[in-house]
Amino acid sequence: MRPLHLFLTAGIWLAIAASSIASSGASSGQAPGITDLRCEYLHDPLGLDVARPRLNWIIRSDRRGTSQSAYRILVASSAELLQSDTGDLWDSGKIDSSQSIQVEYAGKPLASGQACSWKVEVWDERGIALPWSAPASWTMGLLNPDDWAAKWIGPSPSSDKSDAPLAAPMLRKEFEISQPVRRAMLYICGLGYYELHLNGAKVGDHVLDPPVTRYDKRVLYVTYDVTSQLARGRNAIGIILGNGWYDTTVSDAWDFDKAPWRARPQVRLQLDLEFADGSRRQVVTDSSWKMATGPWLFDQTRVGEIYDARKEIPGWTIAGFDDSRWQPAIVREPPAGKLAASNVEPIRVIQTIRPVKISQPKPGIYLFDLGQNIAGWPRLTVSGPAGTTVSMRCGEVLAPDGTLDNSAIQSLVHSPDFQCDHYTLSGNGVEVWAPRFTYHGFQYVQVQGLPTAPGADTIVGEVVHSAFEPAGEFECSDPLLNRIEIASKWSYLNNFVGIPTDCPQREKNGWTGDAQLAVAMGLEHFKGEASYTQWIDTFQDCMRADGKLPCIAPTGGWGYDVLDGPAWESAYLLIPWEMYRQSGDRRILTSHYDGFKKWIDFYTRLAKDHIVSYGLGDWEPVKTKTPAEITSTAYYYRDLLIVAETAELLGRAQEAGHYRDLAQQVRQSFNSTFFDPKTGNYGDGSQTALACALYQGLAPDDERSRVVENLVHAVHHAGNHLDTGILGAKYILRALSDNGRGDIAWKLATQRTRPGWGNWIERGATTLWEDWDGKSSRNHVMFGDISAWFIEYLAGISPDDSAPGYKKIRFCWAI
Ligand code: BGC
Repeated sequence: MRPLHLFLTAGIWLAIAASSIASSGASSGQAPGITDLRCEYLHDPLGLDVARPRLNWIIRSDRRGTSQSAYRILVASSAELLQSDTGDLWDSGKIDSSQSIQVEYAGKPLASGQACSWKVEVWDERGIALPWSAPASWTMGLLNPDDWAAKWIGPSPSSDKSDAPLAAPMLRKEFEISQPVRRAMLYICGLGYYELHLNGAKVGDHVLDPPVTRYDKRVLYVTYDVTSQLARGRNAIGIILGNGWYDTTVSDAWDFDKAPWRARPQVRLQLDLEFADGSRRQVVTDSSWKMATGPWLFDQTRVGEIYDARKEIPGWTIAGFDDSRWQPAIVREPPAGKLAASNVEPIRVIQTIRPVKISQPKPGIYLFDLGQNIAGWPRLTVSGPAGTTVSMRCGEVLAPDGTLDNSAIQSLVHSPDFQCDHYTLSGNGVEVWAPRFTYHGFQYVQVQGLPTAPGADTIVGEVVHSAFEPAGEFECSDPLLNRIEIASKWSYLNNFVGIPTDCPQREKNGWTGDAQLAVAMGLEHFKGEASYTQWIDTFQDCMRADGKLPCIAPTGGWGYDVLDGPAWESAYLLIPWEMYRQSGDRRILTSHYDGFKKWIDFYTRLAKDHIVSYGLGDWEPVKTKTPAEITSTAYYYRDLLIVAETAELLGRAQEAGHYRDLAQQVRQSFNSTFFDPKTGNYGDGSQTALACALYQGLAPDDERSRVVENLVHAVHHAGNHLDTGILGAKYILRALSDNGRGDIAWKLATQRTRPGWGNWIERGATTLWEDWDGKSSRNHVMFGDISAWFIEYLAGISPDDSAPGYKKIRFCWAI
């Protein structure tokens, strides 16, 4: 994708590349044609459990103004049938439509395990047919509980809920294959985390799989096509189970150790084999599997891992291994959550970062500086005597003496081994190791116990997060803005490890407010729709009977009464709404409509005279604390409109009218309670209060200019600095730019002294911080909407709400 350069009057140039915007292809360097076929947002996904998967494609053309006037989709049960243009599952026929995203499959009902091959033909605006796209595919998962013949197995449940750590269970099974295999589909749910091996090799490249859910409501299975990994003769499957979030034995401030789902790790696996002669067979987890423990002595996601290489068991994932001394696996009660397919962008090791500096702040203590704050883990390469233990502690701040200082982030996880991994050497030559069932947030690794002085390869950082493809990027001639953009993207990715989180070191919690603040910048930069779709299901799973949501999702019970309020909880509505705007996704709105209503009705009951006083408010403010009732009521208003719009999409005019009327009453009440007609101020005239009224569409039209003037004055009064927390920081740049004062927004965005984004960069930040002073986490994304402002107001590109999914594009430059 080649970026588009714009020169603006202010004298800065911008480069924008947005692959989510329909591509004219002229500058793409790619051959014209229909490309980028996706199903449920993913390329060739396996194991979908959506009855009517949605299909997307892109037209590339070297002719200006090319557009689609019609399409035809073929879906076939085999690649051969598709090749001969036979859509035995679905032939849409020629449909006169310009729709090229979110096209719902409308063919024969799809059965469990069904393989689907598909392609698209498109007619351009002149009615000329373009050549068929290349084929793409998807497969269906196990759609009915009865499709699972496998049992849940694992260690004995007798120690479930015990605080004593358990070494990671290793489970194995051998089986015979005596004829050619046509297709082998493997389904696995390993809780908390699994690592799957087949005939000595890891299956797939996912790590920390499956993503965390509310396990007592929903557990996720992952599908692999392992046809090419099977051999004629004997085969062996090996599985290692990590505790993940399923068995948190170490106590923390969020009570994950008290989660109702807590149990020892367990797994359900099913291998469906189809042979060349049409016969079928299954290999499933049951009591015939064998189990042992080995080198993984301890693993806790929020703490770290302990691994003793002397306890490795060579060859245990290969056929022919003697497991006669292993124990039979125990058949376990299933977890309470229902099995659902994990159709998301998987978590992967994304890249490796070499240290930019190695120092020795104290004798025997080495400090590796990666030069970049990341989420992931250290990878150790070492050789030395058996029994030597190397300890690696990860963090993001140094003490004055050059050693690691985790004091700002460690107190909420009750373990001295916070962000620390221990590796004991086997003594067998060069040993390379990285943890598997934990991850950390860090720039620095402090290493103790190395048998010899470190070399350039001793420690590298492996970056781990959800593997999103880029959707857009922003670059301009101002190096400060470019660095803020890069830091925002790092913070976003570091905080998306299966689910959006607040910080990768201290909590790793799915804080809802942080996620809603970052969703626009997220979707404008990365294709993460499938992961958001799944996470929004977790909200549904966490909703209390009265409609209340927690402030973190998932939760094991903590966080329903932390005063979070609508600014946090309404991530449940705001994220689907942003998916609708950015990606044209109606389904994520309409499928949660009942949940939206339940949630908003809870707040309607809580409100007094339409004012919601409950909430944390403008978190991490500079000086001025804006009353939470202003920001909470404003979100309540915004959410009522989203519920109304969703009702309209569903054709429920009466309900839409009800919520729209209620929204208007809230607006009136908001203005009569907080607006002072004499001064033109909201509340006590804080930046956040004024920007909130503008951004949320609450200020009366004929008063907007006075409110804007007051906001400009409040910014001048603060020396052209922000005086907001996380909520106001999102509103203010947008509110100023939408109301003709992009010049003031520019001053805030480029401010280099405290407080401001530029100040963090001046102080060496490579990610965004939790607070303006850097006293707590250095890797939060909740102030990251500035990078959406770059795209929407400097590059000037945003989806037009009248035709979501960039069907219509709004161009609007702030300066
Ligand atoms: C988290 C935040 C979150 C906040 C709200 C913090 O501990 O890290 O990002 O939004 O709590 O209370």
